[in-house]
Amino acid sequence: MTEAASRAVRAGVTAARQSGGAGEWNPALYMKFVAERTRAARDLLGGVPLTEARRVADLGCGPGNSAELLAARFAEAAIVGLDTSEAMLAHARQRVPAARFVRQDIATWSPETPYDLVFANATLQFLPRHETLLPRLFAFVAERGCLAVQMPITLHEASHAAMRLVAAEGPWARRLAPIVRTQPVIAAFEDYYEWLAAAGAKVEVWTTTYVHMLDGVEGVVDWFAGSGLRPFLDPLDEAEREAFLARYREAIADSYAPRADGKVLLPYPRLFIVARR
Ligand SMILES: C[S@@+](CC[C@H](N)C(=O)[O-])C[C@H]1O[C@@H](n2cnc3c(N)ncnc32)[C@H](O)[C@@H]1O
Repeated sequence: MTEAASRAVRAGVTAARQSGGAGEWNPALYMKFVAERTRAARDLLGGVPLTEARRVADLGCGPGNSAELLAARFAEAAIVGLDTSEAMLAHARQRVPAARFVRQDIATWSPETPYDLVFANATLQFLPRHETLLPRLFAFVAERGCLAVQMPITLHEASHAAMRLVAAEGPWARRLAPIVRTQPVIAAFEDYYEWLAAAGAKVEVWTTTYVHMLDGVEGVVDWFAGSGLRPFLDPLDEAEREAFLARYREAIADSYAPRADGKVLLPYPRLFIVARR
């Protein structure tokens, strides 16, 4: 892991402790690859067939990168970004002053007035029970509106298998067992189709595998330190975190061999769903 990223992980975990809860996000680490991460949000928005929208909700808005795209596309819309991370919300407020940002858990979000667009890029994978969650979110979509969702399909990727392996084999195994057990599981695309079609949606689903060009194995570690590794690192102290990351780096080295120019190619499959009322 690069020194800068390592410092950012330390800062993020300190912030998590100070905020009194595990799971605080680190916008600086997340932003390191913001161009790559935002590409999927742009592609998801590209699949939204609305010509106008008056009310837009960005679920799990993160540092405001997805809300920024929404504000550019729907300049007249009232946009609200929801997130559970104060650090992310603070970043988003600075980045997109035209939108409103609110601390809110998606699991308990229950708006009284429907939205023309409910947008959730790289967020719903953190929530369970998609068979009820997605139809519930679709219920908040206005007539002729849309629910648009993108989630990474990473369960079987070498990057994520290695996270679970390192967590299960280290001295932290007992503490991290609940994290290993509750890793996000994305259902088959047919399931999302069925659940949303049964709720009355016209559904479109597609998958894309992005290939990210990263700076060596360190780049892969940095990428996930800002996202998928967070739940594993949060409960650890500083020395354990360093040890975990060292083992993780070793565990993924064979799967992400550098090319002749030193770059590592990280395949990243993602599932896209657009459900129209
Ligand atoms: C990977 S980031 C995605 C950020 C942004 N939407 C994008 O397109 O890059 C996921 C965000 O979802 C938020 N999040 C995770 N679980 C959440 C929940 N239950 N309710 C609200 N936000 C949540 C996290 O705090 C984080 O900011």
